[in-house]
Order: sequence, then structure tokens, then C-alpha cells
Amino acid sequence: MLNHEEIQQLNEKLKACQPREILEQIVGLIPNIAISFSGAEDVILVDLASKLTTPPPIFTLDTGRLHPETHRFIERIREYYKIPVEVLYPDAKSLETFTRNKGLFSFYEDGHRECCGIRKVEPLEKKLKTLEAWVTGQRRDQNSTRSNLSIIELDSTFSTESHSVIKVNPLTNWTSSDVWNYIRSFEIPYNELHDRGYISIGCEPCTRAIRPNQHEREGRWWWEEATVKECGLHIANVKKPN
Ligand code: ADX
Ligand code: SF4
Repeated sequence: MLNHEEIQQLNEKLKACQPREILEQIVGLIPNIAISFSGAEDVILVDLASKLTTPPPIFTLDTGRLHPETHRFIERIREYYKIPVEVLYPDAKSLETFTRNKGLFSFYEDGHRECCGIRKVEPLEKKLKTLEAWVTGQRRDQNSTRSNLSIIELDSTFSTESHSVIKVNPLTNWTSSDVWNYIRSFEIPYNELHDRGYISIGCEPCTRAIRPNQHEREGRWWWEEATVKECGLHIANVKKPN
């Protein structure tokens, strides 16, 4: 496992590298790593991984509330790249108790943390116990909470005393334009919702299309403050000092 100093050195070494090189180097260094694919613009990670000699495995968190378009897209990716995509589900008992007590739309009343906790964070936590590192599609330009993002970091949310987890963000320094130039240049498949005004895509009840000049994050949990628009997968971004 990499220590704090080694992580800093790697960030320094990788800061001028392109995402493909970042992914290649990290996968070579930490073989027990997997890509966390949400079924949106992070398809780039899947594309980059498919070009590596030893592509890391891919998993997705099916919250049960994704758009049908996102399900179809994930399936299309599985077929297009001829790769397995491990689909992770929330614990049925926790979900049953939650929805029995609070219904299906409690997040509009008391915030998204509890629902995201059960539908995304717990399944991810379980998965990360089996991994040394995970790869995400986070970028600095996505949200004010992500402006200090590093290429590689110790995941303070999911690391425990007995098991450290590293989080790798190869797209950190890319902008939305870089992402779309890549998708268009290489003609890789993308989620059809992007053609209907959706940029950042999460669950159906908590995502909406945005209007011109709105920031992409305004389409996510729009009834909440920008500073709380992290669901728990990346909550450490909110706690990070500036
Ligand atoms: S979120 O925390 O607000 O939902 P966002 O949609 O910006 O995150 O995605 C950032 C990265 O988090 C994605 O590129 C992906 O690596 C991971 N992620 C988010 N949602 C999922 C999901 N449902 N399944 C797998 N990974 C996800
Ligand atoms: Fe629940 Fe919305 Fe979070 Fe999805 S994004 S897990 S529906 S609160």
C-alpha cells in the first residue's frame, strides 16, 4: 500500500500526464484496482481501460432508480467493448426498511444522504473492502467541491484502520470540452440522455436536464445547496480544506 509521501510523489509525477498514461501507470502499480462506472461521461475510463494490456475490472452501482436509458447504455457498453460489467445492488433488507418507513421520495423532504447511503454508499463500501484502489471519473471542473481534487489520493471515506483504499481520478485535469472532444473524435458510444440536455447524470428522480449557461451540477439534487451536492461516494471532497 502506498504511503502519504508516495501518493504525493505520484501526483507530482503524473500531473502532466494524459488520462491514459495515468491509468496505465496506476494499474501497473496497484493491480487490485477497479473502475467505478456510472453510465455517463465516465465511459471514457472504460474506453481507456479497453486499450490497456491488462484492463482493470469495471463495476457499476445500480441504485434501482437509474434512468432506463442508463441501464440500456451500460448494457451497450458491455457488448461494445466485450467486457464484463459487475452490477452492484443495495442490500434488499435495508432498502425495504427504508422505503417502508419513508416512502420512495423522502430525499425531496430531508435530503439525499440517507437514500444515497443505502443505494450507493453501502454497496460501494462492501465492494471497496475487496479492492486496494478504485478509479472514478471525477473532474475538478464538475463542482466547486471538486476544485481541489487530486489525481491519486487516500480515500479517507472508505479507508479503515485495517484496510486502506486509494482513489484514482485520471480525468481530474480534463474539462468537459476535453471529454466531449474525446468522445466525438473516437466516436465512442455515450448515454443518449446527453442528447437531451443532461450533462451530469445520476438517478432519475434526482437528475434533470439543464438550460443553456447553467452549470452541470445544477441538474443534480437541484433542491439542495451546491455545497452539499456530494452523495457520500465523494463526501471527502466536501470536508477537504481549501
Ligand atoms: S455523484 O457522487 O455526484 O453521483 P458523479 O455522478 O459526479 O458522482 O460521478 C463521479 C464518479 O463517481 C463517476 O465517474 C463514477 O466513477 C462514480 N460514480 C457515481 N455514480 C456511480 C454509480 N452509480 N456507479 C458507479 N460509479 C459511480
Ligand atoms: Fe436516492 Fe436520489 Fe441518491 Fe439515487 S441520487 S440514491 S434516488 S437520493
